Amino acid sequence: MRTQVGIIGAGPAGLLLSHLLHLRGISSVVLEKRGREYVERRVRAGVLEQGTVDTLVEAGVGERMLREGLPHHGIELRYGGAGHRIPFEKLVPGRAITVYGQQEVVKDLIAARLAAGGDVRFEVEDVAVHSLESEPYLTFGGERLDCDVIAGCDGFHGVSRPSIPEGVLSVFEREYPFAWLGILARVAPSSEELIYTRTERGFALHSMRSPTVSRFYLQVPADARLEDWPGERIWAELKARLETVPGFTLATGEITERGITPMRAFVAEPMQYGRLYLAGDAAHIVPPTGAKGLNLAVADVRVLTDALVAYFLDGSAELLDGYSQACLKRVWRAQHFSWWMTTLLHTFEEDDPYARRLQLSYLDYVTSSEAAATTLAENYVGLGR
Ligand code: FAD
Ligand code: DHB
Repeated sequence: MRTQVGIIGAGPAGLLLSHLLHLRGISSVVLEKRGREYVERRVRAGVLEQGTVDTLVEAGVGERMLREGLPHHGIELRYGGAGHRIPFEKLVPGRAITVYGQQEVVKDLIAARLAAGGDVRFEVEDVAVHSLESEPYLTFGGERLDCDVIAGCDGFHGVSRPSIPEGVLSVFEREYPFAWLGILARVAPSSEELIYTRTERGFALHSMRSPTVSRFYLQVPADARLEDWPGERIWAELKARLETVPGFTLATGEITERGITPMRAFVAEPMQYGRLYLAGDAAHIVPPTGAKGLNLAVADVRVLTDALVAYFLDGSAELLDGYSQACLKRVWRAQHFSWWMTTLLHTFEEDDPYARRLQLSYLDYVTSSEAAATTLAENYVGLGR
């Protein structure tokens, strides 16, 4: 079997790449180790930058997102007994975010690929990459797929990055001493906009998915276990961290999904080796506070698509050779922003009272200075395409 681009992973990165290549007449096969149901149900991110929305719309897969997604023109930072709105419409006119679940993006992309006769294979076992320097091929479940190029879109725990020979990659990473416990609940959001709240008990985030479904995150210790967090405890902790301003009451409801996500930052450089190109979480991870993970994956895929189009349609390898360099500037901006938002809003046990005062002073600055608020706003909505 032969294709132009062998894609490992049917997350947002792999599926979008396959779709964008198809629009330019370039063939691909997507190999995914999980089942279709599983990837369509996997609850993860929910904030799409303007550039991500534009990419999906231009690619013809944005119709349901435009119908069901929730455009937001601001977020609230809540701390010290008061809420402070960061108004995007004033600070970054014309730019906003759209709240639309990652698994909905994945569903839309799978539907588009299958409708176009795309080759997306689920529950594929033992994917391995070979011969990356010259004539690359993939093996899986006893089959062989020859390709001109391999795209490693298989997330942080995939096989593509570890198959790069030792000594090639430089790795930069940081583990945070806490995790996020995330839930989906069948209850109308208690706020029209997202609330990022900092308390002495830790960070919490009120987000949403629809007028009837809310999404919440709680900062918990890195070794927290779900079985220690029954529903009553989760709601009590969310109330303790969110009901900190006069007149705000958190509505509760049935919890339909829960999970714990470790908080880590990771970058592997370069994002390519031979004929293998890494995109999305396969190459880099950010802590989720800045809502950048999914948006970075989409940005990588935009760059990789242009490079592959130049390679296959114009015979020029220049963009492919510069792929990693073209991506890493944005990757590091997102790393810094995500670190900054995480540091601004979480409780670090090792922080002494002096460090806590610094954190509060910075929050006061961000919520009172237009210059500082603009820094947050322009990074949050995305620094353009
Ligand atoms: P993924 O979505 O991870 O897709 C990779 C795909 O490759 C998966 O379908 C996987 O099953 C498949 N795969 C893996 N190994 C193999 C293999 N050996 N063979 C074949 N297929 C393979 N970001 C935010 O902004 N906000 C959040 O709240 C948030 N929450 C998150 C929660 C969790 C648990 C995780 C893991 C991430 C979260 N993120 C969040 C980050 C965001 O979801 C990711 O950045 C985004 O999914 C990246 O897309 P991707 O396509 O690169 O990788
Ligand atoms: C969501 C996730 C994030 O990481 C974030 O910063 C904001 C919202 C969400 O899942 O809705």
